[in-house]
Amino acid sequence: MAPIGYLETGVIYCDDNLHRLSQFPADCIDLIYLDPPFFSNRHYEVIWGDEAEIRSFEDRWEGGIHVYVEWMRERVIELRRILKPTGTFYLHCDEHASHYLKVMLDEVFGRENFLNEIIWHYQTSSGAPKKWLHRNHDTIFRYAASRPALVTWNHPREPWPEATLRKWQHDEEGRVYRVQNKFDKRYYIDPAGKLADDVWEITLSSRTKERLGYPTQKPEALMEKIISASTDPGDIVLDPFCGCGTTLVAAQKLGRQWIGIDISPTAVDLERRRLVKVGATEVKLVGMPVTEAQLADLKPFEFQNWVINRMNGTHSPHKVGDMGIDGFSFMLHEPIQVKQSRAIGRNVVDNFETAVKRSGKNKGYIVAFSFGKGAYEEAARVKGADGLAITLLTVADLLEGKADLVTPETGLFGTDLPLPDPRSPDARPSVEELVASDTGQELGQVAESGEPYL
Ligand SMILES: C[S@@+](CC[C@H](N)C(=O)[O-])C[C@H]1O[C@@H](n2cnc3c(N)ncnc32)[C@H](O)[C@@H]1O
Repeated sequence: MAPIGYLETGVIYCDDNLHRLSQFPADCIDLIYLDPPFFSNRHYEVIWGDEAEIRSFEDRWEGGIHVYVEWMRERVIELRRILKPTGTFYLHCDEHASHYLKVMLDEVFGRENFLNEIIWHYQTSSGAPKKWLHRNHDTIFRYAASRPALVTWNHPREPWPEATLRKWQHDEEGRVYRVQNKFDKRYYIDPAGKLADDVWEITLSSRTKERLGYPTQKPEALMEKIISASTDPGDIVLDPFCGCGTTLVAAQKLGRQWIGIDISPTAVDLERRRLVKVGATEVKLVGMPVTEAQLADLKPFEFQNWVINRMNGTHSPHKVGDMGIDGFSFMLHEPIQVKQSRAIGRNVVDNFETAVKRSGKNKGYIVAFSFGKGAYEEAARVKGADGLAITLLTVADLLEGKADLVTPETGLFGTDLPLPDPRSPDARPSVEELVASDTGQELGQVAESGEPYL
Protein backbone atom coordinates (compact mmCIF):
# COMPACT_ATOMS: atom_id res chain seq x y z
CA MET A 1 0.00 0.00 0.00
CA ALA A 2 1.33 3.46 -0.88
CA PRO A 3 2.07 5.85 1.98
CA ILE A 4 -0.74 8.32 2.57
CA GLY A 5 0.15 11.73 1.21
CA TYR A 6 -1.65 13.77 3.83
CA LEU A 7 -3.20 13.03 7.16
CA GLU A 8 -6.93 12.61 7.16
CA THR A 9 -8.80 12.86 10.46
CA GLY A 10 -12.32 11.69 11.35
CA VAL A 11 -11.28 8.24 10.07
CA ILE A 12 -11.48 4.79 11.65
CA TYR A 13 -9.29 2.15 10.06
CA CYS A 14 -10.33 -1.47 10.36
CA ASP A 15 -6.90 -3.08 10.19
CA ASP A 16 -3.91 -4.37 12.06
CA ASN A 17 -2.50 -1.14 13.42
CA LEU A 18 1.11 -2.05 12.58
CA HIS A 19 0.24 -2.28 8.92
CA ARG A 20 -1.75 0.95 8.97
CA LEU A 21 0.70 2.98 11.09
CA SER A 22 3.53 2.31 8.68
CA GLN A 23 1.56 4.39 6.11
CA PHE A 24 1.37 7.49 8.34
CA PRO A 25 3.76 10.41 7.75
CA ALA A 26 6.27 11.24 10.49
CA ASP A 27 5.64 13.91 13.19
CA CYS A 28 1.91 14.32 12.62
CA ILE A 29 0.05 13.38 15.85
CA ASP A 30 -0.32 15.43 19.05
CA LEU A 31 -1.49 12.72 21.42
CA ILE A 32 -1.38 8.94 21.24
CA TYR A 33 -3.29 6.88 23.78
CA LEU A 34 -3.26 3.11 23.51
CA ASP A 35 -5.01 0.45 25.51
CA PRO A 36 -3.76 -2.76 23.93
CA PRO A 37 -4.74 -6.30 24.87
CA PHE A 38 -3.10 -6.84 28.26
CA PHE A 39 -1.40 -10.21 28.07
CA SER A 40 -4.02 -11.50 30.46
CA ASN A 41 -4.39 -14.93 28.87
CA ARG A 42 -8.08 -14.46 28.71
CA HIS A 43 -10.37 -14.59 25.78
CA TYR A 44 -13.05 -11.98 26.03
CA GLU A 45 -16.35 -12.88 24.55
CA VAL A 46 -19.46 -11.20 25.79
CA ILE A 47 -22.91 -10.57 24.57
CA TRP A 48 -23.39 -7.00 23.65
CA GLY A 49 -25.51 -4.92 26.01
CA ASP A 50 -28.22 -2.97 24.25
CA GLU A 51 -28.01 -4.62 20.86
CA ALA A 52 -26.74 -8.03 21.90
CA GLU A 53 -23.91 -8.06 19.38
CA ILE A 54 -21.36 -10.65 20.21
CA ARG A 55 -18.12 -8.97 21.12
CA SER A 56 -14.82 -10.61 21.43
CA PHE A 57 -11.17 -10.07 21.07
CA GLU A 58 -8.26 -12.31 21.58
CA ASP A 59 -5.96 -11.55 24.44
CA ARG A 60 -3.69 -14.56 24.29
CA TRP A 61 -0.03 -14.79 23.46
CA GLU A 62 1.54 -18.03 22.52
CA GLY A 63 5.23 -17.94 23.26
CA GLY A 64 4.90 -15.91 26.45
CA ILE A 65 5.55 -12.39 27.65
CA HIS A 66 8.60 -11.77 25.47
CA VAL A 67 6.64 -12.43 22.31
CA TYR A 68 4.02 -9.99 23.56
CA VAL A 69 6.58 -7.29 24.39
CA GLU A 70 8.22 -7.61 20.97
CA TRP A 71 4.78 -7.43 19.32
CA MET A 72 4.20 -4.21 21.24
CA ARG A 73 7.71 -2.84 20.57
CA GLU A 74 7.18 -2.89 16.79
CA ARG A 75 4.05 -0.81 17.22
CA VAL A 76 5.55 1.60 19.75
CA ILE A 77 8.47 2.32 17.38
CA GLU A 78 5.98 3.31 14.65
CA LEU A 79 3.95 5.36 17.14
CA ARG A 80 6.97 7.32 18.28
CA ARG A 81 7.86 8.03 14.66
CA ILE A 82 4.48 9.63 13.94
CA LEU A 83 4.28 11.67 17.16
CA LYS A 84 5.03 15.41 16.83
CA PRO A 85 8.06 16.64 18.83
CA THR A 86 5.57 18.42 21.13
CA GLY A 87 3.42 15.31 21.41
CA THR A 88 2.67 12.98 24.30
CA PHE A 89 2.30 9.20 24.44
CA TYR A 90 0.14 7.31 26.96
CA LEU A 91 0.23 3.51 27.24
CA HIS A 92 -2.48 1.89 29.36
CA CYS A 93 -1.70 -1.52 30.89
CA ASP A 94 -1.98 -3.54 34.08
CA GLU A 95 0.06 -5.82 36.29
CA HIS A 96 0.11 -8.62 33.71
CA ALA A 97 2.73 -6.83 31.63
CA SER A 98 3.34 -3.32 33.00
CA HIS A 99 6.88 -3.98 34.27
CA TYR A 100 8.02 -5.53 31.03
CA LEU A 101 6.41 -2.79 28.97
CA LYS A 102 8.02 -0.02 31.05
CA VAL A 103 11.51 -1.34 30.25
CA MET A 104 10.65 -1.56 26.55
CA LEU A 105 9.18 1.98 26.55
CA ASP A 106 12.33 3.39 28.18
CA GLU A 107 14.35 1.75 25.42
CA VAL A 108 12.21 3.16 22.61
CA PHE A 109 11.54 6.67 23.99
CA GLY A 110 14.65 7.10 26.15
CA ARG A 111 14.45 7.06 29.95
CA GLU A 112 14.76 10.88 29.94
CA ASN A 113 11.40 11.19 28.17
CA PHE A 114 9.50 9.27 30.84
CA LEU A 115 7.03 11.67 32.50
CA ASN A 116 4.63 9.75 34.74
CA GLU A 117 3.33 6.43 35.91
CA ILE A 118 -0.35 7.25 36.44
CA ILE A 119 -2.31 4.90 38.67
CA TRP A 120 -5.93 4.68 37.66
CA HIS A 121 -7.78 3.43 40.73
CA TYR A 122 -11.34 2.18 40.49
CA GLN A 123 -13.87 0.45 42.70
CA THR A 124 -15.13 -3.03 41.93
CA SER A 125 -17.96 -4.96 43.49
CA SER A 126 -16.35 -8.41 43.40
CA GLY A 127 -16.07 -10.56 46.56
CA ALA A 128 -13.02 -10.76 48.86
CA PRO A 129 -10.03 -12.57 47.33
CA LYS A 130 -8.47 -15.13 49.72
CA LYS A 131 -4.74 -14.64 49.30
CA TRP A 132 -4.20 -11.28 47.76
CA LEU A 133 -5.44 -7.71 47.88
CA HIS A 134 -8.06 -6.53 45.42
CA ARG A 135 -6.34 -5.64 42.15
CA ASN A 136 -8.15 -2.38 41.64
CA HIS A 137 -5.85 -0.30 39.51
CA ASP A 138 -4.41 -0.02 36.04
CA THR A 139 -1.18 1.73 35.11
CA ILE A 140 -0.77 4.40 32.45
CA PHE A 141 2.76 5.32 31.36
CA ARG A 142 3.24 8.81 30.00
CA TYR A 143 6.18 9.79 27.76
CA ALA A 144 7.27 12.89 25.88
CA ALA A 145 7.91 12.40 22.18
CA SER A 146 11.28 14.14 22.15
CA ARG A 147 11.83 16.46 25.16
CA PRO A 148 9.74 16.78 28.33
CA ALA A 149 10.03 20.58 28.17
CA LEU A 150 8.26 20.67 24.79
CA VAL A 151 5.07 18.77 25.54
CA THR A 152 1.65 20.42 25.57
CA TRP A 153 0.53 20.45 29.20
CA ASN A 154 -2.63 21.73 30.88
CA HIS A 155 -2.24 20.43 34.41
CA PRO A 156 -5.44 18.56 35.35
CA ARG A 157 -7.27 19.67 38.45
CA GLU A 158 -9.47 17.79 40.90
CA PRO A 159 -12.10 19.07 43.34
CA TRP A 160 -10.77 20.24 46.69
CA PRO A 161 -11.55 17.68 49.40
CA GLU A 162 -14.61 18.55 51.53
CA ALA A 163 -12.50 18.47 54.72
CA THR A 164 -10.13 21.10 53.30
CA LEU A 165 -12.97 23.34 52.26
CA ARG A 166 -14.55 23.07 55.74
CA LYS A 167 -11.26 23.91 57.48
CA TRP A 168 -10.54 27.02 55.42
CA GLN A 169 -12.14 30.45 55.63
CA HIS A 170 -14.79 31.89 53.30
CA ASP A 171 -14.91 35.61 52.54
CA GLU A 172 -18.00 37.76 51.94
CA GLU A 173 -18.14 36.67 48.28
CA GLY A 174 -17.91 32.96 49.11
CA ARG A 175 -14.29 32.63 47.99
CA VAL A 176 -12.19 30.19 49.99
CA TYR A 177 -8.86 31.18 51.55
CA ARG A 178 -6.45 30.23 54.24
CA VAL A 179 -4.51 32.59 56.41
CA GLN A 180 -0.81 32.55 55.60
CA ASN A 181 0.50 34.21 58.75
CA LYS A 182 -0.39 36.40 61.67
CA PHE A 183 -0.78 39.49 59.46
CA ASP A 184 -3.83 37.84 57.88
CA LYS A 185 -2.26 37.58 54.47
CA ARG A 186 -4.90 35.73 52.75
CA TYR A 187 -4.09 32.94 50.32
CA TYR A 188 -7.06 32.20 48.00
CA ILE A 189 -7.37 28.68 46.72
CA ASP A 190 -7.95 28.09 43.04
CA PRO A 191 -11.70 27.49 42.53
CA ALA A 192 -10.87 25.19 39.59
CA GLY A 193 -9.59 22.63 42.13
CA LYS A 194 -6.27 21.28 43.31
CA LEU A 195 -3.54 20.15 40.98
CA ALA A 196 -3.96 16.43 40.28
CA ASP A 197 -1.22 14.02 41.32
CA ASP A 198 -0.49 10.68 39.69
CA VAL A 199 -3.27 8.64 41.34
CA TRP A 200 -6.63 9.11 39.63
CA GLU A 201 -9.82 7.79 41.18
CA ILE A 202 -12.45 7.18 38.48
CA THR A 203 -15.02 4.39 38.44
CA LEU A 204 -17.18 3.33 35.51
CA SER A 205 -20.25 2.16 37.37
CA SER A 206 -21.72 -1.12 36.17
CA ARG A 207 -25.09 0.57 35.85
CA THR A 208 -24.11 3.76 34.09
CA LYS A 209 -25.68 4.43 30.69
CA GLU A 210 -22.14 4.92 29.41
CA ARG A 211 -21.40 1.20 29.85
CA LEU A 212 -21.93 -0.60 26.54
CA GLY A 213 -21.02 -4.15 27.47
CA TYR A 214 -17.67 -3.96 25.66
CA PRO A 215 -15.04 -5.88 27.61
CA THR A 216 -12.33 -3.54 28.90
CA GLN A 217 -14.30 -0.40 28.09
CA LYS A 218 -12.66 2.64 29.72
CA PRO A 219 -14.54 5.57 31.27
CA GLU A 220 -14.99 8.72 29.22
CA ALA A 221 -13.92 10.77 32.28
CA LEU A 222 -10.49 9.08 32.19
CA MET A 223 -10.05 9.84 28.52
CA GLU A 224 -11.26 13.42 28.93
CA LYS A 225 -8.69 13.99 31.65
CA ILE A 226 -5.85 12.69 29.48
CA ILE A 227 -6.94 14.54 26.34
CA SER A 228 -7.54 17.87 28.12
CA ALA A 229 -4.17 17.62 29.86
CA SER A 230 -2.09 16.90 26.77
CA THR A 231 -3.83 18.63 23.87
CA ASP A 232 -5.44 21.91 22.93
CA PRO A 233 -8.63 22.25 20.86
CA GLY A 234 -8.05 21.25 17.23
CA ASP A 235 -5.10 18.97 18.06
CA ILE A 236 -4.97 15.43 16.64
CA VAL A 237 -5.58 12.43 18.90
CA LEU A 238 -4.82 8.86 17.76
CA ASP A 239 -6.01 5.65 19.42
CA PRO A 240 -4.53 2.64 17.58
CA PHE A 241 -6.48 0.05 19.66
CA CYS A 242 -9.69 2.02 19.89
CA GLY A 243 -12.13 -0.75 20.97
CA CYS A 244 -15.57 0.69 21.45
CA GLY A 245 -14.24 4.17 20.71
CA THR A 246 -14.07 5.86 24.12
CA THR A 247 -11.01 7.95 23.20
CA LEU A 248 -12.57 9.10 19.94
CA VAL A 249 -15.84 10.04 21.62
CA ALA A 250 -14.01 12.04 24.32
CA ALA A 251 -11.88 13.76 21.64
CA GLN A 252 -14.96 14.62 19.59
CA LYS A 253 -16.71 16.10 22.64
CA LEU A 254 -13.64 18.19 23.49
CA GLY A 255 -13.29 19.61 19.98
CA ARG A 256 -10.14 17.67 19.06
CA GLN A 257 -9.52 15.89 15.75
CA TRP A 258 -9.26 12.12 16.00
CA ILE A 259 -8.14 8.96 14.20
CA GLY A 260 -8.92 5.43 15.36
CA ILE A 261 -7.68 1.96 14.38
CA ASP A 262 -9.12 -1.39 15.42
CA ILE A 263 -8.79 -4.81 13.88
CA SER A 264 -12.37 -5.82 14.68
CA PRO A 265 -15.12 -4.83 12.20
CA THR A 266 -17.70 -5.15 14.98
CA ALA A 267 -15.77 -2.66 17.10
CA VAL A 268 -15.38 -0.27 14.16
CA ASP A 269 -19.08 -0.40 13.37
CA LEU A 270 -19.88 0.36 16.99
CA GLU A 271 -17.37 3.22 17.14
CA ARG A 272 -19.02 4.82 14.13
CA ARG A 273 -22.47 4.64 15.67
CA ARG A 274 -21.18 5.97 18.99
CA LEU A 275 -19.47 8.92 17.30
CA VAL A 276 -22.54 9.81 15.24
CA LYS A 277 -24.54 9.81 18.47
CA VAL A 278 -22.25 12.46 19.98
CA GLY A 279 -22.53 14.68 16.92
CA ALA A 280 -19.68 13.64 14.59
CA THR A 281 -20.95 14.52 11.13
CA GLU A 282 -18.15 12.90 9.16
CA VAL A 283 -17.01 9.44 10.20
CA LYS A 284 -15.06 7.71 7.46
CA LEU A 285 -14.48 3.95 7.71
CA VAL A 286 -11.55 2.47 5.84
CA GLY A 287 -10.70 -1.23 5.47
CA MET A 288 -14.05 -2.74 6.41
CA PRO A 289 -14.59 -6.16 4.74
CA VAL A 290 -16.22 -5.72 1.33
CA THR A 291 -15.54 -8.94 -0.60
CA GLU A 292 -16.70 -12.52 -0.15
CA ALA A 293 -13.12 -13.63 0.47
CA GLN A 294 -12.64 -11.05 3.23
CA LEU A 295 -15.93 -12.03 4.83
CA ALA A 296 -15.04 -15.72 4.69
CA ASP A 297 -11.86 -14.90 6.62
CA LEU A 298 -13.63 -13.18 9.49
CA LYS A 299 -13.93 -14.85 12.86
CA PRO A 300 -17.36 -16.47 13.23
CA PHE A 301 -18.74 -13.85 15.64
CA GLU A 302 -17.49 -11.01 13.42
CA PHE A 303 -19.16 -12.61 10.40
CA GLN A 304 -22.42 -13.09 12.27
CA ASN A 305 -22.42 -9.46 13.42
CA TRP A 306 -21.67 -8.30 9.87
CA VAL A 307 -24.65 -10.19 8.41
CA ILE A 308 -27.11 -9.06 11.07
CA ASN A 309 -25.93 -5.45 10.82
CA ARG A 310 -26.09 -5.57 7.02
CA MET A 311 -29.72 -6.70 7.23
CA ASN A 312 -30.43 -3.94 9.75
CA GLY A 313 -31.51 -6.68 12.11
CA THR A 314 -31.21 -7.15 15.83
CA HIS A 315 -28.92 -9.71 17.40
CA SER A 316 -30.27 -12.72 19.23
CA PRO A 317 -29.85 -12.05 22.96
CA HIS A 318 -29.18 -15.74 23.60
CA LYS A 319 -25.74 -17.07 22.92
CA VAL A 320 -26.66 -20.69 23.40
CA GLY A 321 -29.99 -22.48 23.23
CA ASP A 322 -31.26 -20.15 20.51
CA MET A 323 -32.25 -23.07 18.26
CA GLY A 324 -30.03 -21.75 15.51
CA ILE A 325 -31.52 -18.27 15.52
CA ASP A 326 -28.71 -15.73 15.33
CA GLY A 327 -30.77 -12.60 14.92
CA PHE A 328 -34.07 -11.09 13.88
CA SER A 329 -35.10 -9.00 10.91
CA PHE A 330 -35.73 -5.29 11.27
CA MET A 331 -39.21 -4.36 12.48
CA LEU A 332 -40.93 -7.68 11.68
CA HIS A 333 -38.59 -9.59 13.96
CA GLU A 334 -38.38 -12.72 11.80
CA PRO A 335 -35.62 -15.24 12.61
CA ILE A 336 -32.28 -15.11 10.79
CA GLN A 337 -29.74 -17.92 10.78
CA VAL A 338 -26.15 -17.21 9.72
CA LYS A 339 -23.81 -19.85 8.27
CA GLN A 340 -20.23 -18.95 7.39
CA SER A 341 -20.00 -21.81 4.89
CA ARG A 342 -20.84 -22.94 1.36
CA ALA A 343 -23.16 -25.52 -0.19
CA ILE A 344 -25.66 -25.50 2.64
CA GLY A 345 -27.74 -28.67 2.49
CA ARG A 346 -31.32 -29.80 2.99
CA ASN A 347 -30.91 -30.62 6.71
CA VAL A 348 -30.04 -27.01 7.65
CA VAL A 349 -33.31 -25.79 6.14
CA ASP A 350 -35.16 -28.64 7.79
CA ASN A 351 -33.81 -27.76 11.26
CA PHE A 352 -34.41 -24.07 10.75
CA GLU A 353 -38.03 -24.77 9.85
CA THR A 354 -38.55 -26.09 13.39
CA ALA A 355 -36.87 -23.02 14.91
CA VAL A 356 -39.02 -20.64 12.87
CA LYS A 357 -42.20 -22.48 13.83
CA ARG A 358 -41.28 -22.36 17.52
CA SER A 359 -40.62 -18.64 17.24
CA GLY A 360 -44.26 -18.21 16.19
CA LYS A 361 -43.34 -16.55 12.86
CA ASN A 362 -44.15 -17.76 9.35
CA LYS A 363 -41.04 -16.38 7.73
CA GLY A 364 -37.28 -16.69 8.24
CA TYR A 365 -33.91 -16.17 6.52
CA ILE A 366 -30.81 -18.29 6.18
CA VAL A 367 -27.67 -16.46 5.06
CA ALA A 368 -24.66 -18.39 3.70
CA PHE A 369 -22.05 -18.19 0.94
CA SER A 370 -23.97 -20.69 -1.20
CA PHE A 371 -26.75 -23.29 -1.02
CA GLY A 372 -27.01 -26.76 -2.52
CA LYS A 373 -29.91 -27.91 -4.69
CA GLY A 374 -31.36 -29.82 -1.72
CA ALA A 375 -31.65 -26.64 0.34
CA TYR A 376 -33.74 -24.90 -2.37
CA GLU A 377 -35.92 -28.00 -2.77
CA GLU A 378 -36.48 -28.18 0.98
CA ALA A 379 -37.39 -24.47 1.17
CA ALA A 380 -39.94 -25.03 -1.63
CA ARG A 381 -41.36 -28.09 0.15
CA VAL A 382 -41.72 -26.19 3.44
CA LYS A 383 -43.49 -23.37 1.62
CA GLY A 384 -45.93 -25.80 -0.05
CA ALA A 385 -46.57 -27.95 3.02
CA ASP A 386 -46.76 -25.35 5.82
CA GLY A 387 -46.90 -21.99 4.08
CA LEU A 388 -43.66 -21.16 5.84
CA ALA A 389 -41.36 -18.89 3.80
CA ILE A 390 -37.68 -19.59 4.31
CA THR A 391 -35.61 -17.23 2.18
CA LEU A 392 -32.13 -18.45 1.25
CA LEU A 393 -29.84 -15.48 0.92
CA THR A 394 -26.27 -15.54 -0.24
CA VAL A 395 -23.54 -13.23 1.00
CA ALA A 396 -23.20 -12.07 -2.62
CA ASP A 397 -26.86 -11.00 -2.50
CA LEU A 398 -26.15 -8.88 0.54
CA LEU A 399 -22.98 -7.43 -0.98
CA GLU A 400 -24.53 -6.63 -4.33
CA GLY A 401 -27.68 -5.16 -2.90
CA LYS A 402 -29.88 -7.46 -4.98
CA ALA A 403 -31.89 -8.37 -1.96
CA ASP A 404 -33.11 -5.42 0.00
CA LEU A 405 -33.54 -5.21 3.72
CA VAL A 406 -36.85 -5.60 5.41
CA THR A 407 -37.80 -1.99 5.75
CA PRO A 408 -40.70 -0.31 7.48
CA GLU A 409 -41.79 0.98 4.07
CA THR A 410 -41.91 -2.34 2.23
CA GLY A 411 -42.38 -4.74 5.12
CA LEU A 412 -41.21 -7.21 2.49
CA PHE A 413 -38.05 -8.86 1.49
CA GLY A 414 -36.74 -9.06 -2.05
CA THR A 415 -37.22 -5.66 -3.64
CA ASP A 416 -34.53 -4.18 -5.82
CA LEU A 417 -33.73 -1.17 -3.68
CA PRO A 418 -29.99 -0.64 -3.33
CA LEU A 419 -28.37 -1.35 0.00
CA PRO A 420 -27.36 1.77 1.86
CA ASP A 421 -23.74 2.81 1.72
CA PRO A 422 -22.24 1.21 4.83
CA ARG A 423 -20.07 4.27 5.42
CA SER A 424 -23.00 6.63 5.62
CA PRO A 425 -24.38 7.41 9.08
CA ASP A 426 -27.80 6.50 7.68
CA ALA A 427 -26.69 3.05 6.63
CA ARG A 428 -28.45 1.41 9.55
CA PRO A 429 -31.52 2.43 11.44
CA SER A 430 -30.61 4.39 14.52
CA VAL A 431 -30.09 2.60 17.80
CA GLU A 432 -33.40 4.17 18.87
CA GLU A 433 -35.24 2.56 15.94
CA LEU A 434 -33.61 -0.81 16.47
CA VAL A 435 -34.44 -0.92 20.15
CA ALA A 436 -37.95 0.36 19.52
CA SER A 437 -38.50 -2.38 16.94
CA ASP A 438 -37.06 -4.92 19.34
CA THR A 439 -39.28 -3.93 22.25
CA GLY A 440 -42.37 -3.25 20.18
CA GLN A 441 -42.31 0.40 21.31
CA GLU A 442 -43.11 3.41 19.22
CA LEU A 443 -40.29 5.89 18.84
CA GLY A 444 -40.33 8.63 21.43
CA GLN A 445 -42.16 6.49 23.97
CA VAL A 446 -40.78 6.53 27.44
CA ALA A 447 -39.86 3.47 29.49
CA GLU A 448 -41.43 2.82 32.90
CA SER A 449 -38.31 4.21 34.51
CA GLY A 450 -39.19 7.55 32.95
CA GLU A 451 -36.13 7.37 30.71
CA PRO A 452 -36.70 7.68 26.96
CA TYR A 453 -35.72 4.46 25.18
CA LEU A 454 -32.14 4.75 23.95
C1 LIG B 1 -8.38 -3.35 25.50
S1 LIG B 1 -9.33 -3.15 24.04
C2 LIG B 1 -9.51 -1.41 23.89
C3 LIG B 1 -10.65 -0.85 24.71
C4 LIG B 1 -10.88 0.65 24.52
N1 LIG B 1 -9.89 1.44 25.20
C5 LIG B 1 -12.29 1.06 24.99
O1 LIG B 1 -12.46 1.90 25.88
O2 LIG B 1 -13.22 0.49 24.46
C6 LIG B 1 -8.17 -3.60 22.82
C7 LIG B 1 -8.65 -3.49 21.38
O3 LIG B 1 -7.53 -3.72 20.53
C8 LIG B 1 -7.99 -4.32 19.34
N2 LIG B 1 -6.82 -4.94 18.70
C9 LIG B 1 -6.15 -6.06 19.06
N3 LIG B 1 -5.12 -6.28 18.24
C10 LIG B 1 -5.10 -5.26 17.34
C11 LIG B 1 -4.26 -4.91 16.25
N4 LIG B 1 -3.20 -5.65 15.92
N5 LIG B 1 -4.54 -3.78 15.54
C12 LIG B 1 -5.60 -3.01 15.86
N6 LIG B 1 -6.45 -3.29 16.90
C13 LIG B 1 -6.19 -4.40 17.62
C14 LIG B 1 -9.08 -5.27 19.80
O4 LIG B 1 -10.00 -5.57 18.74
C15 LIG B 1 -9.72 -4.50 20.94
O5 LIG B 1 -10.87 -3.80 20.50
